[in-house]
Amino acid sequence: MDIKLRERIDSIISKMTLKEKIGQLNQEAVSPKDLEKIKERVRNGELGSIILASTATAGNDAQEKVYYEVIDEIQKTAVEESRMGIPLLFGRDIIHGYTTVFPVPLALSAMFNPDLVKTAYSHIAKETKNNGVNWTFAPMIDISRDSRWGRCIEGIGEDPYVGGVMAEAIVKGFQGEELSPSSVAATAKHFIGYGAAEGGRDYDKTEISDYTLRNFYLPPFKKAIDAGCATVMNSFNEINGTSTAASKKLLRKMLKGELSFEGFVISDWGSVEKLVFFGQASDKKEAAKIAINAGMDMDMVCRAFFDNLEALVSEGKVSEATIDEAVSRILGVKLKLGLFENPYVVRQDINIEETEDCAEKCADEAMVLLKNNENILPLKKEAAVLFAGPMLSEKHSLMGSWSADGDVTRVKSIKEVLKESKVNAFFAESDYLWDGILPFVRMADAVVLTLGESRKVTGEANSLTKVELPAEQMEFIKRVHALGVKIIGVMAFGRPIALFDAEPYLDAILYIWHSGTRSAQSAVSALYGDVNPSGRLPMSFPRYTGQIPIYYNREKGAIPLNSYYGETNKRVHSYHDSLATPMYPFGYGLSYTEFSYGEITSDKTKISLKDLEAGDGFSLSITVKNTGEREGAEVTQVYITDKVSSMVRPIKELKAFSKNVLKPGEEVKLNFFIDFEKLGYYNDEGEFTVEEGEFDIWIGKDAYVTDKITVTVE
Ligand code: NOJ
Repeated sequence: MDIKLRERIDSIISKMTLKEKIGQLNQEAVSPKDLEKIKERVRNGELGSIILASTATAGNDAQEKVYYEVIDEIQKTAVEESRMGIPLLFGRDIIHGYTTVFPVPLALSAMFNPDLVKTAYSHIAKETKNNGVNWTFAPMIDISRDSRWGRCIEGIGEDPYVGGVMAEAIVKGFQGEELSPSSVAATAKHFIGYGAAEGGRDYDKTEISDYTLRNFYLPPFKKAIDAGCATVMNSFNEINGTSTAASKKLLRKMLKGELSFEGFVISDWGSVEKLVFFGQASDKKEAAKIAINAGMDMDMVCRAFFDNLEALVSEGKVSEATIDEAVSRILGVKLKLGLFENPYVVRQDINIEETEDCAEKCADEAMVLLKNNENILPLKKEAAVLFAGPMLSEKHSLMGSWSADGDVTRVKSIKEVLKESKVNAFFAESDYLWDGILPFVRMADAVVLTLGESRKVTGEANSLTKVELPAEQMEFIKRVHALGVKIIGVMAFGRPIALFDAEPYLDAILYIWHSGTRSAQSAVSALYGDVNPSGRLPMSFPRYTGQIPIYYNREKGAIPLNSYYGETNKRVHSYHDSLATPMYPFGYGLSYTEFSYGEITSDKTKISLKDLEAGDGFSLSITVKNTGEREGAEVTQVYITDKVSSMVRPIKELKAFSKNVLKPGEEVKLNFFIDFEKLGYYNDEGEFTVEEGEFDIWIGKDAYVTDKITVTVE
């Protein structure tokens, strides 16, 4: 830490009473109705921050808005009327947009475009800051291999590399290159393993070995911290027999020790008190003792710290040095944010059109074209196309979960956008009553069925046992299909769903996710070819729910071929009632154009371990060409297989990608540098290591890539 900053922190702490220090560790919610009460508490130095949320599941419930004028009023009380004058942090869950809503984070991962993610979040940061929020509870970087878990839509998908790239882009979008007065402080959450909840049940237990934790769940957090993320939130789950809030091993040793995290740890809503539910503490007081000693710094809403730490210090169960350490971390963030010099909201002009255009560009790039038989898409503008289905007039669900601040009056439905477009789209009397729609099907050259799920079954506390197309939507497809017309499915889901039963009835599938304010404009542009889809799947799509968890980077198994990549032989198979391969693999996505790949070349076929350790590596090259007739973007993906290693390693792991827009006939030569970090893994001892031997390096369009080159480390 910078010496001047350290000195400033120490000087503030030296003037604080124990009670004031404990106040800094306390976060409470504010409601405009209780304003005077809250101001009184702030005046007494009882709060370090305020959460601008009125319920525990802020992503699903409408949240009372606290206007920036009120925020300034509370801040003024802290700065001018409390003894120490320490400014407050104001936190809110700004997950994928404030008034302008961007695609849900899982869809943003599907863009495979970190620069655009960063730009998107810098727009989001501006709207956030303008509304008085100086601290967001994002990014959520929980790896998830289970789309039953409603919160997978808030995350970054199944891959640690994509997770790391997204973590860095979102943190930098919110905070800039470093935490500074123009930043919105970010929170890497939830530390750790929350996405591995058993059965996809929210808040459920997890069992994650150290090996899996370090190689899969930890990398996105490492990237977020290396990018300077101001705070980290613990996760609700129990992991390997302990709640994260009680885990010294995770918080002090791993996060603050090994990862050198300098910011502070905020508990998730009531996490400290939850130690009582877990049976790890007999009451709130014991919970406070365990949590602060384990490394938790700030207590979200349950007042376990505030009500008990003074007594715990006087009883010698918590040292004042432990409290000082937590306060010091919190003050560090406040000082870096410049809150002592500029505590009040600085409003800047926001160009809404520009922000919305960026949201639309994200929605354009997030969409994934899953199927396109006989190039039925893009539609011709003059073709008579009937549009129907439950998502046709929908607005709220297109915004996705965690869009309480989103301005729905600025959202258009797909139907509204079509009506304003110069295309020959038409509608039945009803969007959704299939017997009302059938008479219109006869008049259509093709039918677009807009299918999907409500945002209310996605996000926190919204898991499902079945992630297949809802039965009534399936029935609807079958009825229309029976009339012999071509059907295009436009799918507005937050999560991956299992499409085995639906797919044969559909000639094309465009997966548009819950893509925010401009979802509908994007969907229509893609359907009619003004946008060429370029999204790729950040999570594997199962055929059936029963295949979950399904993910491409599974370790090699006892039979020669991992079932994800194909059945081994006629006698050994994973299931009797389904193929074991996913419906669509990780990294998959079609385009309206085609791309071809040249040969992979490497500047070295052998490299010594010593050279790798010294920072050297080798360079791979490949040429990608647009061989089709339209401009389009290809996401070139680089996977690595450690062929023989002392521990069982994944069949393939993504280690790099590059997204390039190419004109028809255009080609680009791409170079990828492979070094120690890309070849290594954490072994059983927790050491990051590269072992000698052969590595296959695959370059191509998705996890099913077959072109490779072999390089030996000796
Ligand atoms: C609970 C959620 O798990 C967390 O992600 C969120 O930031 C807090 N509630 C605050 O709303």
